[in-house]
Amino acid sequence: MTTTTHTVTFTINGEKKTFATRPDEKLLTLLRREGYRGTKYGCGQGTCGACTVLLDGRATYACLLYAMQAEGRKVRTIESVGTFDKPGEFQKELVAAGAVQCGYCIPGMVMSATALMETEEVFEDEIVKEYMDGNLCRCTGYEKIWVALRKTLDKQASAKPAAKKTAKGAKK
Ligand code: FES
Ligand code: FES
Repeated sequence: MTTTTHTVTFTINGEKKTFATRPDEKLLTLLRREGYRGTKYGCGQGTCGACTVLLDGRATYACLLYAMQAEGRKVRTIESVGTFDKPGEFQKELVAAGAVQCGYCIPGMVMSATALMETEEVFEDEIVKEYMDGNLCRCTGYEKIWVALRKTLDKQASAKPAAKKTAKGAKK
């Protein structure tokens, strides 16, 4: 293991901070060590989506990124979207739909949905699936999560003026 200590500076949930790190430390490890524990460790291999954060607005697997690759960039975690006391719109709909079982996948799902809602102007099913297909859930069979997401997106779409049909694309 590399032990040399370095620092990395990036904006986390709107606040610029500097953290000690090592060249071999993953962003997920740093975030959880620094208290951003809503971001979950699942597979550690870029296949489950539990660790999804936003990097400059795009959904990204924090388990695949070295912490030092976040230098100068904007990182957002689930803590920026909603808390237990003040949940975001999708989180409220997830609860209303009874879509949460163990809950382990939910922060990653919410971050991918946040990227979708903040990037796209239309929410056609194929665009939604493109954003969400990197987030696995082992409990629910996805149906209630989909119902909750569709309801959130429909509300958001009806609150906006008529939008152009464009898709900017998802990325993990
Ligand atoms: S922990 Fe599974 S994709 Fe990162
Ligand atoms: S609710 Fe358990 S993994 Fe999704």
